[in-house]
Amino acid sequence: MRLLQSGPMSAAPPPGLTLPDAWFVACRSQALGRRPLAVTLQDKPLVLFRGRGGAPAAFTDRCPHRNVPLSAGDVVAGELQCRYHGWRFSGDGQCVAVPGLVDGEVSLRSRCAETWACVEQQGFVWVYSTPDVVPSSAPFSFPHLGERPWGTVVREFEVEASVHAVVENTLDVPHTAFLHRGLFRTAQKSNVIDVVVRRHATWAEAEFIGEPAPKGLIGRLLAPGGGVTVHFDRFLLPSIAQVEYRLGERSHLYATSALTPVHDTCTRVFAVVTFKLPLPAWVVKPFVAPVASAIFAQDAVVLRQQTEQLRRFGGARYTSTELDVLGPQVTRLLKQAALAEETPAEVHEHRLRMKT
Ligand code: FES
Ligand SMILES: [Fe+2]
Repeated sequence: MRLLQSGPMSAAPPPGLTLPDAWFVACRSQALGRRPLAVTLQDKPLVLFRGRGGAPAAFTDRCPHRNVPLSAGDVVAGELQCRYHGWRFSGDGQCVAVPGLVDGEVSLRSRCAETWACVEQQGFVWVYSTPDVVPSSAPFSFPHLGERPWGTVVREFEVEASVHAVVENTLDVPHTAFLHRGLFRTAQKSNVIDVVVRRHATWAEAEFIGEPAPKGLIGRLLAPGGGVTVHFDRFLLPSIAQVEYRLGERSHLYATSALTPVHDTCTRVFAVVTFKLPLPAWVVKPFVAPVASAIFAQDAVVLRQQTEQLRRFGGARYTSTELDVLGPQVTRLLKQAALAEETPAEVHEHRLRMKT
């Protein structure tokens, strides 16, 4: 197999903390109830709560008064109340009450909570990566989520690995036949298929042409009659990894992972699978859910091992082949975004072949 780099060492992936400004999922809507919720985004402690009318708000989790965590307080009438001296903050961060203060203005600027743009969309609460910024774009929209007749499964879990490592893992085809053998693809590689790789300034995708229907358990359930398989893997800056499968005439699914950088080597995964299947979802789910859980567990273990190695050896020293189809593209996009490099908007395309 031809090496993409001539030497033994390829460019190391960027650390997870250099992601560009963007929206990240902070939590699922259902996780944000009447209590304030503490979350961490890129090492920053945040507090989420529902303000007046139920709209979510996000502050830095630090009371401006004596820096007690606001997440230890309460939500009272749509205002966040600090537990220490009872200062209250409205959803826009204004200090609206200082108990006992007789004279003087309550809502001085210095008493405001630091705010982070926050919106609720499709059952998720998204927070913008930078405080006190009004974003010019909306968060990513999950395909077909909530549309009829599409079904949905949402899973949330944390992985001890950088966003870069999790994206690469999610979009990496060759490991599925090896690490997940028997669960997803079979280990014997008998089909040579074409892969078209497209890259753009903000995304990259691989289209796998001529792939046979998966033979493992999942394949038997999703494409009982076989048929043409359409398969795309996609990465969208800064942290969306998406696999799209169409199997035969009647199965179509998107597995979209919105990745939230908690710390440099900790990533929260919000995995949304939207699907149309030949069988009712309630028939398929009991079979697919444990297989999916087993796959996630295997990935989590190997990613943790990889992260430990990067720590032990003080960084990455990767070498690649053409089979690492999207990994180098992901690295390139993240690096360009981290450096805020201007990149032309046209789509570049190249082809390669792989055995699957
Ligand atoms: S520390 Fe929050 S009100 Fe005093
Ligand atoms: Fe995997």
